[in-house]
Amino acid sequence: MNMNLLLLCLNALLFCCCSSSRTNFVLLFADDLGFGDLGCYGHPSSVTPNLDRLAAGGLRFTDFYCTSPVCSPSRASLLTGRYQTRSGIYPGVLYPSSIGGLPLNETTIAEVLKPLGYATAAIGKWHLGVGADGEFLPTRQGFDQYLGIPYSHDMGPCWNLTCFPPDVKCVGLCDIGTVTVPLMHNEIIKQQPVNFLDLERAYRDFATDFISTSAKKKQPFFLYYPSHHTHYPQYAGPGAAGRTSRGKFGDALLEFDNTIGNILTTLEKMGVLNNTLIFFTSDNGPELMRMSRGGNAGLLKCGKGTTYEGGMREPAIAFWPGTIRPGVTHEIASTLDILPTIASLAGACLPQVVLDGVDMTEMLVHQGKSKRGTMMFYPTDPSEKYGMFALRLGKYKAHFYTRGATHSGTTPDQDCPVFALLKAHDPPLVFDLEADPSENYPLSPEERPDLQALLERIKKVKEQFEAFMVFGESQISKGEDPNLEPCCNPQCSPRPSCCRC
Ligand SMILES: *[C@@H]1O[C@H](CO)[C@@H](O)[C@H](O)[C@H]1NC(C)=O
Ligand SMILES: *[C@@H]1O[C@H](CO)[C@@H](O)[C@H](O)[C@H]1NC(C)=O
Ligand SMILES: *[C@@H]1O[C@H](CO)[C@@H](O)[C@H](O)[C@H]1NC(C)=O
Repeated sequence: MNMNLLLLCLNALLFCCCSSSRTNFVLLFADDLGFGDLGCYGHPSSVTPNLDRLAAGGLRFTDFYCTSPVCSPSRASLLTGRYQTRSGIYPGVLYPSSIGGLPLNETTIAEVLKPLGYATAAIGKWHLGVGADGEFLPTRQGFDQYLGIPYSHDMGPCWNLTCFPPDVKCVGLCDIGTVTVPLMHNEIIKQQPVNFLDLERAYRDFATDFISTSAKKKQPFFLYYPSHHTHYPQYAGPGAAGRTSRGKFGDALLEFDNTIGNILTTLEKMGVLNNTLIFFTSDNGPELMRMSRGGNAGLLKCGKGTTYEGGMREPAIAFWPGTIRPGVTHEIASTLDILPTIASLAGACLPQVVLDGVDMTEMLVHQGKSKRGTMMFYPTDPSEKYGMFALRLGKYKAHFYTRGATHSGTTPDQDCPVFALLKAHDPPLVFDLEADPSENYPLSPEERPDLQALLERIKKVKEQFEAFMVFGESQISKGEDPNLEPCCNPQCSPRPSCCRC
């Protein structure tokens, strides 16, 4: 760290410790929720009064991207402001018995805020590793407190568990052969298997307590709530089950929305709503293979697992009454930009590493332009050999490779399912996303005499970016050790049935 930077940070620390109106942050992250799943993005039958309130009173993004079409890598980027290729969260996702996890020397948003005296808590789906003795849990990455299932809630036998009242069993094939999913408080298993019908109530109470306690102490806070909703298998407790016309997916979404409503009410009651930035988005596109229970990408092509727009363009809303003016923005932005924005608003130092995110403050607070001109699309299994699959430059998107995915099966579009094998495009397929957001009509040299010049610009941006992309050691390739599966009764047998508490 050079001297100037050090002084800057000291200033920031002094300023923050003495300022009475430090900004709080609430980061809401939906799971497998697609671009077309909310009413404010065009869905006709979703019921989300609280998200609607955020959208009406906040800034809604039309061109917001996550960094990966699957869970773990997307979350790694959100929390570090870096593409998952750098932190090694690839290929695919982490499992309950994974040996690796988000490396502890990566700096998360929580760790950026801790030196300024923030209280930090995470609720819900972590999915960045558990490891031996919980070495990769949120409590090791800057969060004071954690309550949740540390990975996807389908990563354990679920066919005997209840997902809807009074006793409607969870549907379908969850990943079998592993222990049932645990509910962890900090690093301790509180309940196994988790009671899905009571889970939102537990989260709601935890969030209420965290916000109230912090506000009473006048301590600024960061609440990260990556929800399990609306990932498969959907579940909902008595407050949401059967209350929408959209079926199980709609009920799960309503339950998440209810929790958001409770957070809003608590912020209001504690008098800190105007001093809190709430940011909402989703980890990746809809899991189309689940058909009507898998979410919806709206007018975007394909979904989860693919580098088409449906896999990675997400609904996003920034809400901060009195500071962010209500409206809609078409600027390009990304989950990568959340860490630098929070750091800037809090007056915190940026981690001294290569960051891929840009500060959105100007754009949020002063209707400014995004500092982001590009977005890179990596597949679920990124490699130095293939590099990025696609690149967005301004309104253009170039695909160097396309491929379908298991997660995106079942729609009529033949480019989406796993049967659409890897295809290289040279020259790349280029789409004008403003004229053709559905990626239906690649530009041709006949209609676009300037295509060659555009291709050259794209090629240059790609080369410049990839020259400085250093892949971190793959954490997921470290493999699995069955002994690492969280079991509340570690020495018991036979597993998994004995892991019950
Ligand atoms: C973390 O440590 C690993 C292994 O020493 C190193 O390769 C990596 O660059 C480090 N990452 C950061 C962000 O410092
Ligand atoms: C599921 O329930 C059935 C019927 O109650 C029971 O026979 C079976 O052992 C249960 N399976 C597990 C894994 O608990
Ligand atoms: C919060 O901001 C809104 C909009 O600017 C204003 O109407 C309201 O009075 C403020 N509330 C508090 C508690 O300051």
